[in-house]
Amino acid sequence: MITSQTIQQITSRIDIIDVVGEFVKLKKRGTNYIGNCPFHNEKSPSFTVSPAKEIYKCFGCGKSGNTITFLMEHEKYSYVESLRWLAARYNIEVEETETSPAQKMAQQVAESLYAINHFAMDFFAKQYWETEAGETIAQSYMQHRGFLKPIVEKFKIGYNPSDKDTLAKALLQNQFNPELFAKTGLVVERNGEWQDNYRDRIIFPIHNTTGKIIGFGARQIAKNDKSPKYINSPENDIYVKSRILYGSYFARTAIDKLNECLLVEGYTDVVSLHQAGIENVVASGGTSLTIDQLRLIKKYTQNLTIIYDGDAAGVKAALRGLDMALEEGLNVQLVLIPDKEDPDSYVNKVGPDAFRDFVQSAKKDFVLFQLEVQLKEVDGDLNKKNTLVNQIAETLSKINKPEDFTKLQEYVKKCASLLRIDETGLTQLVNKFKRDKIVKEEKKMSYDEAAILMPSFPKETNAENDNDLFVDRDLAHERNLVRLVLEYGSEKGPKEKNIADWVFEEIESFPLENADMVYLIDAYKKWTAEGKLANSKTLQYHEDERVQKWVVTLFEPEHELSQRWNEKLGKPERVEEKNFILEIEIGLMYFKLRKVKKMIGQNQSDLETAPEKEQGQLLQIHKHLKEVERELTQSIGTVIFK
Ligand code: UTP
Ligand code: MN
Repeated sequence: MITSQTIQQITSRIDIIDVVGEFVKLKKRGTNYIGNCPFHNEKSPSFTVSPAKEIYKCFGCGKSGNTITFLMEHEKYSYVESLRWLAARYNIEVEETETSPAQKMAQQVAESLYAINHFAMDFFAKQYWETEAGETIAQSYMQHRGFLKPIVEKFKIGYNPSDKDTLAKALLQNQFNPELFAKTGLVVERNGEWQDNYRDRIIFPIHNTTGKIIGFGARQIAKNDKSPKYINSPENDIYVKSRILYGSYFARTAIDKLNECLLVEGYTDVVSLHQAGIENVVASGGTSLTIDQLRLIKKYTQNLTIIYDGDAAGVKAALRGLDMALEEGLNVQLVLIPDKEDPDSYVNKVGPDAFRDFVQSAKKDFVLFQLEVQLKEVDGDLNKKNTLVNQIAETLSKINKPEDFTKLQEYVKKCASLLRIDETGLTQLVNKFKRDKIVKEEKKMSYDEAAILMPSFPKETNAENDNDLFVDRDLAHERNLVRLVLEYGSEKGPKEKNIADWVFEEIESFPLENADMVYLIDAYKKWTAEGKLANSKTLQYHEDERVQKWVVTLFEPEHELSQRWNEKLGKPERVEEKNFILEIEIGLMYFKLRKVKKMIGQNQSDLETAPEKEQGQLLQIHKHLKEVERELTQSIGTVIFK
């Protein structure tokens, strides 16, 4: 681990213009710099870098972050790799913390597993290319299937012969640690002897994204109903099935270039498509997609095209995971291969060009595809139609990122017309699902105080119209307050306190409700308790991605959009830079006012259903809340207009 002193040294030296400027041509505009966004194709620049805030934001595609996230996104570095890159650039010596014995142990196990796998991969390739069995059995099998030498070499495909322990012997001879053998799954212990596990199989090594061998897929050559077609590595310290996408190592550049990732099921599909010159392809390994796999894809592109067999099982498998993909903000297209073929057999049958054309013309939007399939089943049955409408609305409610708003509107329009229902009605239904989800989440949060003081969520939304749900005003006020704490927290405030403590005291009976804001403030408090300087500049380099992300989001460079936001919030046009105490006072009052309004709403709806004997008390509360509301409104008026 890199020490926190080194991290601090690095982050204090960061010059975002210098680093981003290395990859993007930047021009000065006002206090900011602009350039063409490196994350999406554009002709006029909407990628903005703020040297003062040390962050960037693209107003075209919405990507934003700091210097480190830029390196992570653009260069696909890990957090630590980005730090090392910066350290090298600024000539900072990297100090490492002592690792605990347990950490060291885990590292050693992982390194040994990589070493064994690497050895096995070379061994299998040797068997494939340089032995007689390799030539007569493995090579001829692969040739027969149309795989040519260059592609077999590129993917390091190999062969494990049918004798009982060729690999086992080689491993022992080369002094690998037998205690780890079982973990690799390459060999198994039988009657006190190590025996090969992948006998007479073609071996597909599985590379992780940096090219290390984490495991294998072993396909039988002779058909044998007693054993499975493929044997895969068992889960171990480095082979975690839910995070693996076969081919990702070879697909990265092509995915970047084409801004699209093709997803297939099998090893052979990936290899065949590569051979056909289609390189932006990865495989899920025949099971439904996991959230980790989706996130891996999203690191490279937003556009996912799933190419599956057209049989019922293929369609079903493809449809699973749909909601997760939407929630992740991916654009998902679906291509079904006809006639019982799979991508491998189909590309071999029709050739690369026809395959490409086919994919282009057969691409269907995932959501609309699902709708079409199910509409056929409805067939005039009103009950079924009702269920379907609800299901589609729920699916659409997963599209929840502010930047995906236009996409959602498009979907609503198209789905409403396919379903022949009213568009506004569908929008309302979608919003109902969104609200239900918020209520559920808030219930889950349940800190005691919040439960007593706050209504879980008003029955009717605060939003004046449906669009406002995307710019939830409660949330906006919470964010504003948190932003102010991060910006001015350590400055001197009223009552001999610093700003942060003052604000925390002021909102003691109005706790923050948004889970992300609570999380951010916790991180802030933790750092200040540890004596670390916590503010927007330092916290944006926090180890925790969730903290980083939110700091960056709160401090995104100004844009017309945020201007409109301010108007919506009713914030005064411009507050003097130096007069931040006033700005915070106003922020606090608006924050409290929202909370009070919310409580009034809740109290009112309680009143409607309360038995008569409780109504008196509720009316008391109502009067009190109204009083507080009036006071707050008044002070806001005086503060702003004085
Ligand atoms: P398929 O049965 O479609 O195989 O399984 P395939 O990839 O087309 O292979 P070929 O063309 O017949 O040689 C798809 C994927 O499901 C996983 C593998 O990852 C395979 O590539 N699978 C399949 C297993 O893990 N185990 C099995 O027994 C079968
Ligand atoms: Mn196949």
